[in-house]
Amino acid sequence: MGFINGIKEVAKSNLKRIVLPEGNEERTLIAASIINAENIAKVILIGDEADIKDKAGKLEISLSGVEIQDPENSLKTDIFANEYYKLRKAKGMTEEKASTIMRDPMYYATMMVKMNFADGMVSGAIHTTGELLRPALQIIKTGPGASIVSSFFVMIMKDISFGEDGMILFADCAVNPNPNENELASIAISTAESAKKLCNIDPKVAMLSFSTMGSADHELVEKVKNAVKIANSARPDLDIEGEMQADAALIDTVAKRKAPGSKVAGISNILIFPDLQSGNIGYKLVERLAGAIAIGPICQGFAKPVNDLSRGCSVEDIVNVVAITAVQAQ
Ligand code: ACO
Repeated sequence: MGFINGIKEVAKSNLKRIVLPEGNEERTLIAASIINAENIAKVILIGDEADIKDKAGKLEISLSGVEIQDPENSLKTDIFANEYYKLRKAKGMTEEKASTIMRDPMYYATMMVKMNFADGMVSGAIHTTGELLRPALQIIKTGPGASIVSSFFVMIMKDISFGEDGMILFADCAVNPNPNENELASIAISTAESAKKLCNIDPKVAMLSFSTMGSADHELVEKVKNAVKIANSARPDLDIEGEMQADAALIDTVAKRKAPGSKVAGISNILIFPDLQSGNIGYKLVERLAGAIAIGPICQGFAKPVNDLSRGCSVEDIVNVVAITAVQAQ
């Protein structure tokens, strides 16, 4: 696939350290050996070293050159626990609890990223989205230019007349259940920046609604309109328009009728959904009914990259998400 192959090449050009906290998980181990052999990133596995090596032996894969760290006997565990305690004491964290929590590979790996022992993290082959995001939201937090963490999917359409040669970014389809107007504006800006960095496309952002340019009057439409105003005033350099319906965003003839003069309608390559219900339903419908390939969710807005996997992920999915995370870290 063109997009992923391009990402892998960029990842190889400037190797980043990506930590995988699910170091004892078989798909993760196979992916780590492939990433290492193809030189896509420097992988760090978290888990019991003897167990990992035993599993690698049974799987007949080589992990030579792959770093392994075990929070149970790492010298860093106490340092991380102390730092975590300092970060969270205002929220009721105690030194004792912090020391126990830091034995959890998810928290240990998140602290590795926070304290610059790794450049990014990928997890979720056995953990839920919440189990990955919660430590990252608490510890890594948002980076400059983003008020919230959000996510997007790169949708590769069969019909290449849509978006950028068939590539359209959908956001937010995985993180924020009900963003307010400021948060929606932040999602639009973050996704435009991600599109430039990861997909090399000139962002044309459509803020979706059931109304196009004032055709309906409702508080839900008002939220989207206000988000457009906030995004435009924060980033006048970006083409972010709305509110608009999906057909006006995507189809030239509809755009000419419903949104004449728009710089985005009819040619949009980024669709921003008003909430998680519409976003999550939207991407799954396009994936299943239109046969699109959905790559993601890719997180954005974190101070350092953290990405989630589906628990049904394949080895190839893990390799791809590590490559994407490595490029985000560059
Ligand atoms: N951006 C930045 N910070 C955030 C965000 C965000 N989007 N969401 C929460 N936070 C912060 C909070 O400010 C808080 O920080 P603090 O503890 O320092 O004050 C901390 O994270 C915890 O906040 P909570 O509101 O308690 O968040 P919670 O832990 O309940 O959940 C989560 C956050 C996991 C992201 C939740 O919103 C969620 O479950 N989202 C939906 C995930 C999901 O199920 N997606 C669909 C499936 S994925 C798929 O289909 C591909």
